[in-house]
Amino acid sequence: MSIDVLLPFSSWLELREPADAAARAGALVEAVRHRLPTDRPIVLHDLGSGTGSMLRWLAPRLPGPQHWVLHDRDQELLDLAATGSVTAADGAPVSVATRCGDLTRLTAADLAGADLITASALLDMFTAEEVERVVAACAGRPTLLMISVTGEVRLSPADPLDIEIAAAFNDHQRRTVDGRRLLGPDAVEAAVAAFARHGVAVQVRSSPWRLGAAQADLSAEWFRGWVAAACEQRPELAGPAGGYARRRLAQAAAGRLRVLVDHRDLLAGG
Ligand SMILES: C[S@@+](CC[C@H](N)C(=O)[O-])C[C@H]1O[C@@H](n2cnc3c(N)ncnc32)[C@H](O)[C@@H]1O
Repeated sequence: MSIDVLLPFSSWLELREPADAAARAGALVEAVRHRLPTDRPIVLHDLGSGTGSMLRWLAPRLPGPQHWVLHDRDQELLDLAATGSVTAADGAPVSVATRCGDLTRLTAADLAGADLITASALLDMFTAEEVERVVAACAGRPTLLMISVTGEVRLSPADPLDIEIAAAFNDHQRRTVDGRRLLGPDAVEAAVAAFARHGVAVQVRSSPWRLGAAQADLSAEWFRGWVAAACEQRPELAGPAGGYARRRLAQAAAGRLRVLVDHRDLLAGG
């Protein structure tokens, strides 16, 4: 069992998609539904769409024709997102357009005409300034930001190294990359505060992954990435992490590992 052989990114997104779908707070969709037009197609912009997980989750939960604009900096992921077909809750057509670009430069003009802005598993990759900019671009339109990590992780059965690895992983999430200090688990708080500065109220719901034997493949892959990042942040952990990873991956393979990865879902202006 290796801790450092990770899946290609698109395969990772595919593996996590059912867990994200199960975790997202459907109550926030109910809360925003009444804000959406019923006399014309709904226009939705998904930020950091990857291969289109949010489109596949949300489009079938909304009635009526929809036009989705998927934003990502990775053209290959956008191409994958554009290949699938999805229909609305009532069978109405859903059209998809893609835009390849850097969301850290997003402006309100890029979102002109949007009835709803969405994102999933994106916020932690931004700096404080970038969250301010994205929020400024979105403010004034309903915005549904889902599956943002909080940094809280619980593994069961407990292991003495869990807390140290979790702390190193969270430090890694807050690392500085090319002069950009990423927010990681602080992004939720930053986004709520940024919306408040624009006078926009935010509803917050918990959306944890709860992984058990049925999600052993996801648990193992998530765990490999979690430990690898922790060791990159604190190389002195690599020694003890070897035995720890073997124990944990054996538990996952035997269906005995349970993992809670905490997230928050935000609805701003809904
Ligand atoms: C963790 S993935 C989530 C993808 C998708 N929302 C999902 O839930 O499966 C984050 C996505 O955001 C995109 N992304 C991250 N930072 C970005 C940026 N600055 N500009 C554009 N896209 C970005 C990545 O390319 C990736 O597809």
